[in-house]
Amino acid sequence: MYEISTRKKIVDSNLFEKGIILSQLQRVGNTKMRVLGIESSCDETGIALYDTDKGLLAHALFSQVAMHAEYGGVVPELASRDHVRKTLPLIDQVLADAQLQRNDIDAVAYTAGPGLVGALLVGCAIGRSLAWALNIPAIAINHMEGHLLSPLLEDNSPNFPFVSLLVSGGHTLLVEVRGIGQYQLLGESIDDAVGEAFDKTAKMLGLDYPGGPVLAALAEKGIADSYKFPRPMTNRPGLDFSFSGLKTFAMNTWRDSTQTEQDKANIALAFQTAAIETLAIKCKRALKETQLSTLVVAGGVSANKALRQRLSAMPTIDVYYPRPEFCSDNGAMIAFAGAMRSANLQQQKSSFSARPRWPLDELGPP
Ligand code: KG4
Ligand code: ZN
Repeated sequence: MYEISTRKKIVDSNLFEKGIILSQLQRVGNTKMRVLGIESSCDETGIALYDTDKGLLAHALFSQVAMHAEYGGVVPELASRDHVRKTLPLIDQVLADAQLQRNDIDAVAYTAGPGLVGALLVGCAIGRSLAWALNIPAIAINHMEGHLLSPLLEDNSPNFPFVSLLVSGGHTLLVEVRGIGQYQLLGESIDDAVGEAFDKTAKMLGLDYPGGPVLAALAEKGIADSYKFPRPMTNRPGLDFSFSGLKTFAMNTWRDSTQTEQDKANIALAFQTAAIETLAIKCKRALKETQLSTLVVAGGVSANKALRQRLSAMPTIDVYYPRPEFCSDNGAMIAFAGAMRSANLQQQKSSFSARPRWPLDELGPP
């Protein structure tokens, strides 16, 4: 039997001091670097090449969604095996797209955690072996830092400092960001991550896996204010979240309804509206507490159009997002994080490890 996991793992964070602006960071080490990024923490194999002078050169992604769909969640062993099959061909594809050879790469960045340990080990092993063979540095990247920095890949990117809302399948984090590696955790989910709550609610409504985007599409057919769902933990101080009660509320509402297709759409909309409203209230509170006016939103749920509309409508605040294809897991964010960390490259070691749990507060500046 395979263990079925729909969760990815938990991250904390901590305080560092100085803010640095992106243009300074892109000159780190004063050397031009081409960094190969490898993402394999869960059910997507993502590969990219980032050039500190020219930006993103090429990227490719293979999603395992179809393979896991019949199990209703990610099957870790199948995920690992598929990363083994896809990583090297995708590296070759990205190099060909960029019209480069393997020895044009200056460093290899790979996701070392958090995530599924077997899946992570594939990226770690291939990334480090390639770096060893090419005699170039290998850089272990924290997946959540990858998401956090992903909006900086865009032309219109934010300057530090900012508040980051990270919303994915395994994490809901509010982080004060003063520079690369300068992260203070402001709040996090005490139970389900918001993406997980979307996925579980969708599953309960009988929607296809992965449920988040399917539920969001169904919500577009819902009639507003058919149901009033709670906004969990908003009527008390603090910046933590709780989404498991919202999922249960949706389940009970569905059970007590006449269970028509319209009921389903109405419940999807009521759930989505409550989740988004809760996130928006906490973002506003975080910006007020930190006295910042820039909000950066990343992770799979940041692709949600209603969330973007709600946050972008907040007055006197600048909001930044990654392009939709870089909201969910991808290699570009790992290559970019690697480039940002390339100033302080570690001596190549023959041993390595993956970290299924890796709190952001254990990272420091590059
Ligand atoms: O960042 P990500 O690709 O993987 C993790 O690191 O977890 O996030 C995946 C999560 C899933 O829970 C998925 O259902 C959710 O993001 N998601 C969405 C949407 N697109 C992806 N949730 C709500 N609305 C969407 N449009
Ligand atoms: Zn992710």
